[in-house]
Amino acid sequence: MCGIVGYIGQRKAYPILIEGLKRLEYRGYDSAGIALLAENAFEVHKEAGKVADLENIIPQKEHLQTIGIAHTRWATHGQPTSKNAHPHYSTSKDIVVVHNGIIENFMPLKRSLIEQGYTFQSDTDTEVIVNLIEKESKKGQVSFEESVNKALQQLHGAYALAVLSKKEPEKLIVARKGSPLAIGLGKEYSEFFVASDAIPIVEYTQDLIYLNDNEVAVLERGKKVEVKDIYGKSKMYKVKHIELDNNMVTKGEYEHFMLKEIFEQPDTLSNTIFSHLSEKEDTIYFEGLDELKKQLSEAKRILIIACGTSWHSGLIGEYLIEELARVPVEVEYASEFRYRNPIVRKDDIVLAISQSGETADTLAAMRYSKAQGATTFAICNVYGSSMAREADFVAYTYAGVEIGVASTKAFTAQVAVLSLLAIAMGQENDVLDVKTAKKLMKELREIPKLVAKTLEKDTEIEQLAKDFLDVTSFLYLGRGVNFPLALEGALKLKEISYIHAEGYPAAEMKHGPIAMIDEKLPTLIVGTNEAFYEKIVSNAQEVKARKGTIISIVNEGDKQLSELSDYVMTVPKVADELQPIVGAIPLHLF
Ligand code: M6R
Repeated sequence: MCGIVGYIGQRKAYPILIEGLKRLEYRGYDSAGIALLAENAFEVHKEAGKVADLENIIPQKEHLQTIGIAHTRWATHGQPTSKNAHPHYSTSKDIVVVHNGIIENFMPLKRSLIEQGYTFQSDTDTEVIVNLIEKESKKGQVSFEESVNKALQQLHGAYALAVLSKKEPEKLIVARKGSPLAIGLGKEYSEFFVASDAIPIVEYTQDLIYLNDNEVAVLERGKKVEVKDIYGKSKMYKVKHIELDNNMVTKGEYEHFMLKEIFEQPDTLSNTIFSHLSEKEDTIYFEGLDELKKQLSEAKRILIIACGTSWHSGLIGEYLIEELARVPVEVEYASEFRYRNPIVRKDDIVLAISQSGETADTLAAMRYSKAQGATTFAICNVYGSSMAREADFVAYTYAGVEIGVASTKAFTAQVAVLSLLAIAMGQENDVLDVKTAKKLMKELREIPKLVAKTLEKDTEIEQLAKDFLDVTSFLYLGRGVNFPLALEGALKLKEISYIHAEGYPAAEMKHGPIAMIDEKLPTLIVGTNEAFYEKIVSNAQEVKARKGTIISIVNEGDKQLSELSDYVMTVPKVADELQPIVGAIPLHLF
């Protein structure tokens, strides 16, 4: 994932672009760059590292240019160096581009362009795009727009891009296929803001156009936006007014967005739960629930598709739906599913889970399933995102804007929605007894308060974490619904602390990983499930027998596992089904 930002208008572009990049850093943070255009000249700066590193190398002067594009990168093709950072120039340096996505046929295109005399400065796939545009622009009387279209027609893969040309310096051209792109509209088209999502734009305008796949827009001050397909055919578009407060997209008193978002969870969970569950009565709501329930009860199986953290909530969903509703569930990595000719039947319900609603693999897997005739259902956090728009049914998680790289509040909100869905399905299918359903709904209503209580352990967990700063590898174990939670904890440690961690079902440990346990490999055990408590205690014994250090997550008042553990993080006791929601808090803080 990468983030792109663009601006054309009357204001100075530089601060808009730099601040925009900071807000998009969750999409990529290994290198960044900016190109400003004025008086027929580009000023380009690029640097490896974060946006702050880029800022440090840019001369401290007033940047007067009112047009520019910028990029924050998460390397896919070529290492995270300043050479590979975007923007990329064409061979003549007349055109610059920033790109989010992957061009799959870049190798043959690059070979052919080199044979024709084009030169390349980076190892990226993106440079092919800008050189192709230049090549097309040289074919007679071809406008900037036409040369972009002709280049795009030759690309296989995904892109959201913004392009500037010295020859037509009054235009900013943007295009999208597979990767998201939003255009913010200034008053009477006097200025335009471009970004990978609305977050960098809302400070300036709340009127947005979201480009669809294969659409191109030419942005020119004072001119109405024209959206066309890549063959030049005009397309209709809608201007969306979005309700996003600028306070929602700033760090406030917190040092990091991730920390802010972890601490927002009492609110985000409350918003999510009470948007789908009545505060007083035991009624569960989902948009189109009656029709959805009918389809769900007739479904032979539910296929859950997702990536990363959302895949972990999908695994939890599998436990919950099978346990409470007795409908068979399969969970797939969307990134594998879409490439492996999977069997999808008309009577399948395909549940796509995604915070952003834009993850390319999940979107492609959902579209494939829809084309096979399956009913698609999206659990999404972003209103109006591609998945939300295209799925037959949508249930929103009301987690608010997630800017932190690591998904935290979206994860717990997804699990809350899945719990409610499983309860609703269990009731519909007459397999969940009223007492259990009522108990779970009652506990769900309490969850925001219990999460707030768990967050009070913040300082304690910070102290505990300090003892592990030099450790290079961790094992995370859990059983039942807490196995996917162990996977999630391990993913967070890798992603945020750059420490290797492996999540494993505790019962599988003896089939191999146990050989690794010694005093140097700490094991984090999620030991809150009542149903498997004795078994988890036995797993802890096995770790101790090999002199392993144990950090455990236990329920308040726990004795046995706590005595075996070197470090303990406690959480309030809740029903086994809901434990991943409270258990995620210490794992994310750790
Ligand atoms: O927006 P999505 O939920 O579809 O994103 C899927 C993954 O990329 C995402 O969950 C990723 O694994 C998290 N950033 C990890 O913290």
